[in-house]
Amino acid sequence: MTHRIGVIPGDGTGPEVVAEGLKVLEAVRNGSEIDLVELDLGAERYLRTGEVLPDEELETLRGCDAIFLGAVGDPRVRAGVLERDLLLRIRFELDQYVNLRPILRYPGVATLVPSHGEDDVDMVVVRENSEGLYSGAGGFHRRGTPHEVAVQESINTRHGVERIVRYAFELSMSEGRRRSLTLVHKTNVLTFAGDLYQRVVDEVAREYPDVSTDYVHVDAACIYLLDQPSRFDVIVTDNMFGDIITDLGAMIQGGMGIAAGGNISPGGVSMFEPIGGTAPSETGKGTINPLAAIGATAMLLRELGEGDAAAKVERGVRFAASKMSSMRAGEMGFRTSEVGDLVVEGAAA
Ligand code: IPM
Ligand code: MN
Repeated sequence: MTHRIGVIPGDGTGPEVVAEGLKVLEAVRNGSEIDLVELDLGAERYLRTGEVLPDEELETLRGCDAIFLGAVGDPRVRAGVLERDLLLRIRFELDQYVNLRPILRYPGVATLVPSHGEDDVDMVVVRENSEGLYSGAGGFHRRGTPHEVAVQESINTRHGVERIVRYAFELSMSEGRRRSLTLVHKTNVLTFAGDLYQRVVDEVAREYPDVSTDYVHVDAACIYLLDQPSRFDVIVTDNMFGDIITDLGAMIQGGMGIAAGGNISPGGVSMFEPIGGTAPSETGKGTINPLAAIGATAMLLRELGEGDAAAKVERGVRFAASKMSSMRAGEMGFRTSEVGDLVVEGAAA
């Protein structure tokens, strides 16, 4: 079996963590051929040529079985150019409508919340990834004047909400999950979008009598993530809320260095990435934590049907985590490449 994987190392620490992810992929692939297609996309390309995501590269991505991305964004490029026209454009064009972000703890890993027991944190955030405030709808009126108006609209379609909610219910029923689904929103203020989400959850819930459902406002969800994370199993939420709560989620796992995510297009081409950013202040030091990127390769392998290889990577990540003093860059006790080596060692054990 040959898997064609598009690789976008991207900016900042992206290339450093992608290198470790590829090292691990190579170590666990076991018979499967992996055909890597590296794409030169990101700040350097943009600064050199003015191109962000040319049609040719987009077609290459469409022809892959999966995509592995490091990070995009650069202080030299105006905010939004690479984020919107590269990262979000790939998510939208390939209809990766699920942003799947597991939040779990590895034994022994120090987190910001020492009161959490080791089993207290084990959830998955199913973030809507194709609409909401990220749709780009809106505009300026009288820009730059004292009467300026800036409108940023949240687009929520029945189709978009229903497909993400259905995905979350299916996930709740899958092996290892606890058949509990929580809608996180702000229905008391966002009475249109929130109402649509709540109605869809209530309707779809009738088809899943074994799944218990709950609702938590997004602000309260931030409290519970710190105070009572064990109440969450599968969380379904909109694009913006999902973006925000998963950074908090990363911190209760141990840090951004460990949080992996997938932009899933069921039946299509999915893209996997560490959810943290480019970490400009850490770039080039060789001390960034690659575990999030390596964890993303485990998700990638699972999506490609390579469950055994994925399990090896997960074992390797747990092994590496158990050796590290911290998940934070510079405090890990190991250099970036040594962490990759530890994962390889643990995967083989
Ligand atoms: C993320 C990032 C992106 C997002 C940015 C870089 C556009 O923060 O993947 O969480 O907001 O989705
Ligand atoms: Mn984010």
